[in-house]
Amino acid sequence: MICLTLSGSTLEENAGLVRSNRDYIDIAELRVDLLDEEEQKRVSLFPAMVDVPVILTLRRIQDGGRCSLSERQRRHILMEALEGEFAYVDIEEDIKRTEVESKARAKGVRIIRSFHDFEGIPEDIYSRIYRLSERGDIAKAAVTPHSISDVLTLFRISDELKDVEKIIIGMGEWGIPTRILYRRCGSMLTFASDGDAVAPGQISAKELKTLYHADRVTDRTAIYGIIGNPVYHSTSPQIHNPGFRAINYDAIYLPFLVDNIRSFFSLAEYLRMRGFSVTIPYKTQVLMFLGRISREVKQIGSCNTVVRVPGMWKGFNTDYYGFLSPILKDIDSGRIKSALVIGAGGASKAIVWALRNRGVKVTILNRTLSRAADIAALNLCEFDTLENARKYEGTVDLVVQTTSVGLYPDFDLNPIEGFRFTGHEIVYDIIYKPRMTKLLTEAAAAGCTLHYGEEMLLEQGKLQFEMFTGYHYPKGIDR
Ligand code: ATR
Repeated sequence: MICLTLSGSTLEENAGLVRSNRDYIDIAELRVDLLDEEEQKRVSLFPAMVDVPVILTLRRIQDGGRCSLSERQRRHILMEALEGEFAYVDIEEDIKRTEVESKARAKGVRIIRSFHDFEGIPEDIYSRIYRLSERGDIAKAAVTPHSISDVLTLFRISDELKDVEKIIIGMGEWGIPTRILYRRCGSMLTFASDGDAVAPGQISAKELKTLYHADRVTDRTAIYGIIGNPVYHSTSPQIHNPGFRAINYDAIYLPFLVDNIRSFFSLAEYLRMRGFSVTIPYKTQVLMFLGRISREVKQIGSCNTVVRVPGMWKGFNTDYYGFLSPILKDIDSGRIKSALVIGAGGASKAIVWALRNRGVKVTILNRTLSRAADIAALNLCEFDTLENARKYEGTVDLVVQTTSVGLYPDFDLNPIEGFRFTGHEIVYDIIYKPRMTKLLTEAAAAGCTLHYGEEMLLEQGKLQFEMFTGYHYPKGIDR
């Protein structure tokens, strides 16, 4: 179930939230502690105002809520609230048997026994969850992972505590995979926020339902993802998930924030992942965990696609193809014979290799000359420093920008400031946020043909999709 956490200050506001999210949710949690004081007296009316089951929760400050009332006053509010037809009531681990519990049991309201840990994951998490469930209650653990191996600990709960009814939540940004793949944690529900709440670790109900189809994940669902650090800005889930759906392929693709690549591989094995994309800073580090690599990976020295093959992981590089694809016909026709490549990082390596592989003459310009020299030596091309960029005005057919200069939020930077385009050049910036970088704006003013980072992103993603699924990326997808 996808559960919307209701954070409004009045019952009406919360009922409105349920209505506007109704297509995405199965259940809602009324956070009484977030209501205005007057509203707290009318809580029993709420279940009748909405058409989903409701969890009744009056969260204390120590558990991350706002309720600072005495335990007696809190009990009083909960007792009155239970006059309404709530489906569940949340009672914290340390609250001993009370009249709230008795009333809930008498009315057939299920009890959720919860504990919260905002610091980390308690060492005895498995036994603690088990104890909470002992009296037929639903155990709830909201804990805070800080690493990818913590995330694995949470996924393991599903095997360790197979028959226990439970809710598992990984809080904070590390917890995102446990919230999306909640069913693989063995959790009966996942908490989601209303459309715009984007606090770290939050994910909206709409996204869970329409992008990830998180409620449809089963043991058979093939899991794919993207690893990186940072990673949550990635738009690759918007490429792969709609693709899977269009071909009726039971699969999900989600982001994994990774601190240690070895630990990630343990998680990938545990989840029986079928493949994943790799982004900064792991494109080179990932190599030593691969049983096999493609010719491109070997030559470029960087891998952005990992696929499960029998008994091992195999690495590919689709960046080079994604880059080439939009300009291939201009290379084949002879329109592009020479290129200036700005930058000498990981992306530049793949791009220079791709161009050289197609017979294009390349000059690499970089701030740090030695890095340009290294790539030039491997690929037999020229190199120079960025300061000398103007020397190359009017000499090339293609200019490619591969550095991070001009990337969001630095819209007003251009790594070759002052460079004059003749209008003949095809200019390609691999930055996709913003779409129109300062460099491209200047090139457009001179009448150049432009290519955008999003073209490369989409093309590399489509090829990756083929490697993941064995199918062509479907046409006409609304991403
Ligand atoms: P990636 O893998 O995305 O290519 P990278 O390996 O960190 O990232 O490479 C970043 C590129 O952007 C390099 O060419 C870097 O130049 P240096 O080799 O001199 O570091 C370039 N770059 C980053 N910031 C820059 C800046 N402020 N001015 C000029 N070049 C910059």
